Amino acid sequence: MKEQISSLIKESLKALSLKSEIPPALLQNLRVDRSKDKEHGDFASNIALVLAKPLHQNPRALAEQIISHLPPCADIVKTEIAGPGFINFFIRRENLAATLMAMLADDQLGVRQTAQPETVVADYSAPNVAKEMAVHHIRSTVIGDAVVRALEFCGHKVIRANHIGDWGTQFGMLIAYLERRENESSAGLDLSDFEAFYREAKACYDSDLDFAQKARRYVVLLQSGDEYCHNMWQKLVRMTMDQNQRIYERLNVTLSNKDIYGESFYNEMLPQIVQDLEQKGLAVRDEGAMVVFLDEFKGKDGKALPVIVQKQDGGYLYTTTDIACVKYRVGTLHANRLMYFVDSRQHQHLEAAWLIARKAGYAPDSVKIEHEAFGMMLGKDGKPFKTRSGGTVKLKDLLDEAESRVEQLLQQRGSTLEGEERAQVVRNIAIGAVKYADLSKNRLTDYVFDWDLMLSFEGNTAPYLQYAYSRIRSIFRKATLSAGPIVLSSDAENELASKLSAFPEAVAQVVDKAMPHLLCTYLYELSGTFMRFYEACPVLKAGVGPELAQSRLSLCELTARVLRQGLSLLGINVMEQM
Ligand code: ARG
Repeated sequence: MKEQISSLIKESLKALSLKSEIPPALLQNLRVDRSKDKEHGDFASNIALVLAKPLHQNPRALAEQIISHLPPCADIVKTEIAGPGFINFFIRRENLAATLMAMLADDQLGVRQTAQPETVVADYSAPNVAKEMAVHHIRSTVIGDAVVRALEFCGHKVIRANHIGDWGTQFGMLIAYLERRENESSAGLDLSDFEAFYREAKACYDSDLDFAQKARRYVVLLQSGDEYCHNMWQKLVRMTMDQNQRIYERLNVTLSNKDIYGESFYNEMLPQIVQDLEQKGLAVRDEGAMVVFLDEFKGKDGKALPVIVQKQDGGYLYTTTDIACVKYRVGTLHANRLMYFVDSRQHQHLEAAWLIARKAGYAPDSVKIEHEAFGMMLGKDGKPFKTRSGGTVKLKDLLDEAESRVEQLLQQRGSTLEGEERAQVVRNIAIGAVKYADLSKNRLTDYVFDWDLMLSFEGNTAPYLQYAYSRIRSIFRKATLSAGPIVLSSDAENELASKLSAFPEAVAQVVDKAMPHLLCTYLYELSGTFMRFYEACPVLKAGVGPELAQSRLSLCELTARVLRQGLSLLGINVMEQM
């Protein structure tokens, strides 16, 4: 309906003989929003306010004219001018009911496949080899995965790129240490604790001269493609990613091994990139290193920001890889949109790499490159989230704790679930709660990790939404009638209907802005609207006629399906009973 109203407005503007042309850029500010308060209609547009000034007209007078030139539309029963010049649109009730019936008959629940499918590369998760996944990786992993699901649901082609940190000088030391450990244990190595592995390797490197020498030799060998070192390195990558894969599966995240495009993947491109940058006059030699000076990023001293793309010793950097990455994603994968789900602290690094890539012609202006930045995860004390002893919190431990807390919660609530079913419910609630706590906050801000809040069955939490879903499903277990045609006969039904019909818009926002919290807010509001409807409008009570009951059952069913689909786009499972 939103789009329909936008095009009606555009038609009206065409029909209006205006003294001056409307600059097309201005029309991009045309907005059609859902009205908060149904007394002001269902939708409102700001168009008269946007155009009044540039056209030198009074906004209310202009609104009047736009209304009088709107093409007739059977779905709009009334228009009104409000406040300084907003145009309010009132939609025919039958139209809303028909929209809901169409949603019920549609697997996509009214979310249309985009007419302009894009090829999107989504860079997310990106943990580092031989390190435990840290808390900031959960943010990137979970937020990125939700956006990816929404993009695919709308018909975009998504290439997941897990830009793992699998290259660098530390690998000489890690290979030397892996070798030592393998020599010590004949029974194969179980590397469950990477934190310790890394620490011990570093300790050997710092204290044992022979070891350090070997480590340095191995770096050189690895970089020159030596088979032994390459195999050892690959072992480290595989062990890390096998372990991370188990976490992805536990988290219900869609990444798999085939999505790994680590830093090493771009190695071969790097000499060529630096050469190309030099030829194009972008990179210059400076104190032995190759450097690009960016005027766009001036430091406090007013000097252009120097970005090193090759070190004096010939080594390449994180930035060089990210420049190559743009070239590959645009030139080879033909992406139209690059999305980077990366910590906001890396903003300048990314901006610099992209600017260089743009200047070098690796990405035309038509390709969107976006930093889907996110803030830090904080403890309740407002400081970065750490273990009691100040160490990084392992993701695995965090998930274990979530599950044991949920098990306790079920005991307190007197749950009678048993066996595998209980275990499944525990997993769904625990994982859902942890993910949702992250997804439901505006990603741009830091967020406070709080067990009690996220596991509460009240408020904007996953358990609340999962419970709302189960409750609706329980209605169907008691119902003897089946769902039937929707007739909207009361305010509470209208409110619910209007909220349900907004589902496609909530999904579209996740796709456009890469902000899953907007979908979370929508689902939370939907649950609240449903609860009000359910209190005001009995469904299965005696005295409710069969047609009304069937209509209300349809509203229940659609609510359940929207909740399930919405949560599924966030990578969260629902349960029939919990
Ligand atoms: N591995 C990096 C980290 O742990 C994140 C990589 C993000 N992606 C990128 N293309 N730079 O911080």
